[in-house]
Amino acid sequence: MADVAFRPKHFLSDKVTHFTESVIREMTRQAMLYGAVNLAQGFPDFPAPAEIKRAAQEAIASDVNQYAITWGAKNLRNAISRQMQQWLGIAVDPETQVTVCCGSTEAMISTLLAVCNAGDEVVIFEPFYENYGPDAVLSGAKPRFVKLRPPSTADGEWSFDERELRAAFHNHTKAIILNTPNNPTGKVFTLPELELIRDLCVEFNVIAITDEIYEHILYDGTEHISIARLDGMADRTVTINGLSKTYSVTGWRVGWTVAPPTITNAIRKVHDFLTVGAPAPLQEAGAVALGLPEAYYEKLARGYEKRRDRLIPALTEAGFRCFRPRGAYYVMTDISAFGFPDDISFTRYLVKEIGVAAVPGSSFYNDPKDGARQVRFAFCKRDETLDEAARKLSGLRK
Ligand SMILES: Cc1ncc(COP(=O)(O)O)c(C=O)c1O
Repeated sequence: MADVAFRPKHFLSDKVTHFTESVIREMTRQAMLYGAVNLAQGFPDFPAPAEIKRAAQEAIASDVNQYAITWGAKNLRNAISRQMQQWLGIAVDPETQVTVCCGSTEAMISTLLAVCNAGDEVVIFEPFYENYGPDAVLSGAKPRFVKLRPPSTADGEWSFDERELRAAFHNHTKAIILNTPNNPTGKVFTLPELELIRDLCVEFNVIAITDEIYEHILYDGTEHISIARLDGMADRTVTINGLSKTYSVTGWRVGWTVAPPTITNAIRKVHDFLTVGAPAPLQEAGAVALGLPEAYYEKLARGYEKRRDRLIPALTEAGFRCFRPRGAYYVMTDISAFGFPDDISFTRYLVKEIGVAAVPGSSFYNDPKDGARQVRFAFCKRDETLDEAARKLSGLRK
């Protein structure tokens, strides 16, 4: 046999060299290692609604245990279509426009794989939910980042520069990824901002891929607007959502896309060969979840508002500058006051010596330097967890 030097890297795709493992999920492992309070990863530590857990148990007991239709169980697709009509005023055909995936995570990557060619560009606001960059790379596209700038006052809004956004659009732009309500900033995009994005999408013939997984988690009377509702957008929008956040079931892995039939067809092909389908019994439980009364959603949002208003004073007292979120369940903070060289050394100290896990801001930016003064905390936790975190954070003042 020829003497070929063994080079392990030879076995790897170039693509995987362009991104790192998830920092958020790494911080959860560190929280476990040091026994720290986990305010890093966005999963609730309180129970999911009893009626939907019961629906999942009943589905398994009644033998909904084989593959569902690859693009989603009919009951769930019908429920998604009803909810889109009821909440967003958008008419959706469950037969041709809905694809149920393994979480909105799979929904996003299936969409990008379905629409992107090598050389296409995808516009992404940053700071961004950390999956979007690797998703774009895996689909062969090049991410183009546009900055969301933090507000100068505690109560102000994150904003973007119109000229910077326009400059990111050109002939090779295939899509823009939107996330509203936004992780990590808590920004909820306004109608004028969405109209501006719409105008650019129409002018440059671009698709909007909008991750609306926090649509029901809103504060201070803020309204969620789906870009698909805007004139000219129905035929060029993929709306992504899922059960994870609205029903506190992040481990169920059920999400979906809603898109025009031609795009849906392409997404369904990718989805079929990636995962075949999402868990069948949990899709049936999802149909029950989507039928919960309006009071459920009101209680969900008010519960999170209380948690936000519990955590922010504790963070402020400990020395963080907090950017008040209008939606989703994270607080982005500025850590300048602590005098650490960067966010990584600070979060390491925080998890090991103080006993609280948070996410370093750099993981939400293309250039780590841009997030070196920021750290994100999740507040989708029980009052006891938040109080324990507050107690530990007070150690920072010493
Ligand atoms: C903006 C955003 N999109 C998607 C996800 C993942 O959703 P899923 O559990 O449906 O895959 C998260 C989870 O934190 C998120 O913050």
